[in-house]
Amino acid sequence: MTDQELMDLAFKARQSSYSPYSGYAVGAALLSEDGRIFLGCNVENASYSPTCCAERTAFFKAISEGVHTFSRIAIVGGKRGEEPDSFFTPCGVCRQVMREFCEDDFEILVTDGKELKKWTLAELLPAGFRL
Ligand code: THU
Repeated sequence: MTDQELMDLAFKARQSSYSPYSGYAVGAALLSEDGRIFLGCNVENASYSPTCCAERTAFFKAISEGVHTFSRIAIVGGKRGEEPDSFFTPCGVCRQVMREFCEDDFEILVTDGKELKKWTLAELLPAGFRL
């Protein structure tokens, strides 16, 4: 699975985004170490705080299927109904969820619709908390 193929799946996941309140549609494609893919989109709520980000949707789908080891995630976001035009990076809560299940070298791919950028989890969450 190439980085671009994983990102294409994040674009596909983004199509399912339920985001009537923020107007931002986000998609994620999470690749497990055994080669399985878990797609996630953001799921909003009229009461706002129950909202779940695309990345956490993907992680929680995987964990609930018994999959706990991951190598990469691709994330794409932007205004609903428009093509993405800037790099959408994971929020702090999602970085902490990644920290729970991933090592420092876990890769996070983002795009502005033109090029791909890649970080490691250690770069996006240095000195992250873990018990
Ligand atoms: N969102 C994500 O899906 N992932 C993030 O990492 C940050 C934010 C969603 C939550 C909300 O539905 C919308 O983007 C605007 O914050």
